[in-house]
Amino acid sequence: MKLQKLLSIAALAGMTMLSASANAFFGSKDDSIKLGYLVKQPEEPWFQTEWSFAEKAGEEYGFEVIKMAVPDGEKTLNAIDTLAASGAKGFVICTPDPKLGPAIMAKAKSYDLKVVTVDDQFLNAKGEPMVDVPLVMMAASEIGYRQGSELYKEMTAREWDAATTGVMAITADELDTARRRVDGSIKALQELGFPQEQIYRVPTKSNDIPGALDAANSLLVQYPSVTQWLVVGMNDNTVLGGIRATEGQGFDAASVIGIGINGVDAVNELAKSSATGFYGSLLPSPDVHGFKSIESLYKWVSEDVEPEKFVEVTDVVLITRDNFRAELEKKGL
Ligand code: GLA
Repeated sequence: MKLQKLLSIAALAGMTMLSASANAFFGSKDDSIKLGYLVKQPEEPWFQTEWSFAEKAGEEYGFEVIKMAVPDGEKTLNAIDTLAASGAKGFVICTPDPKLGPAIMAKAKSYDLKVVTVDDQFLNAKGEPMVDVPLVMMAASEIGYRQGSELYKEMTAREWDAATTGVMAITADELDTARRRVDGSIKALQELGFPQEQIYRVPTKSNDIPGALDAANSLLVQYPSVTQWLVVGMNDNTVLGGIRATEGQGFDAASVIGIGINGVDAVNELAKSSATGFYGSLLPSPDVHGFKSIESLYKWVSEDVEPEKFVEVTDVVLITRDNFRAELEKKGL
C-alpha cells in the first residue's frame, strides 16, 4: 500500500517536472497572451462558431481566448474593464450597437488594449463608419444579391404567378450590414423582373425571431390578396420569424420561400422531418471570421504587425434540406 502510494507520488512528481520543463521550453501558460472575443448575441450559433474557431486559433498559436457576451452597451464597457483587469492585451468585438464605437475605442485606449471588429462596423458620432478600426466582415451586398437571385430561381422553378406573389422584406436599416444585404436582395429581384410594387418592406424592432415575427405579422395583414410569399431578411432568425408568421396566418410550406443568411443558425429548421417555407440558407464563413479576426489581433499584439483595415469574406454556399449536412461538414462545422 505504502509502496503504491509512493510510486504514484513519484509518478505525479515526474509529470510535474516534465510539464515544468515543457513550460520552460515552450513558454509557460501563466505568461501566455490573453485576448478577448466579445459578441452581441451569444445565443446565435453564428457567434458560437466564431468563438470556437477563435479558440482553434488560440490553440494553434498558444494564446488564451476570453469569450464574453455583450448584449448591451453597459455590459460591453464592463467587459472591457474586466478584460483589462485580467491582463488581456486586446479584443475582437461584434458590438451590440455600432454607435458604441467611440466609447469602446476610448475605453480600450485608456487601457492600451488593441481592438479588431468583426461582422458589424463601428460608427462615429456623425454616424460615419470608423474605417480606422480593423474589420472582418462578410460581403453584405453580394450575399444579399445572391439571396434575391436564389429566391427568384426557386419561385421560377415552382412556376408561381408573379402577379399574386409578394416579397416580404424584413429590414434592420440601422445596421449597415443588414441594410446592405436586404438592399442587395431587392436589387437582384428587381433586376430579374420581379414587380417593384409588390416588394414590401417592414422594419423589425429586434434582430431575433420574435421581433421579425411581429414585423411580418403586421405586414401580412395589410396584403390579404397575396397568395405566395418570398421572404427576405438579413439573417436566418429574421427570415425564420417571417416564416413563422406565414405559418400562423395559414400559408402552407409550398406557398412560401424563405432563404436565410448565416447557415449555422438554420440547421434545426433544415433538419425538420417535413419541409417548411424556409427553403434554405446562405452559409458564409463564421469559421474564417472567428479565426482570422483573432489571428490578426494576436499578430498585432505579439509581433506588432498591424491588421488590414478591411477584410471582406466573400465565399458563400446555398444550403438546403438536401445538402446542408455535407456542406457544413466540408467546412468542419
Ligand atoms: C450580423 C448579424 C449576425 C451575422 C453577422 C455576420 O452581426 O447580426 O447574425 O449575420 O452579421 O457577419
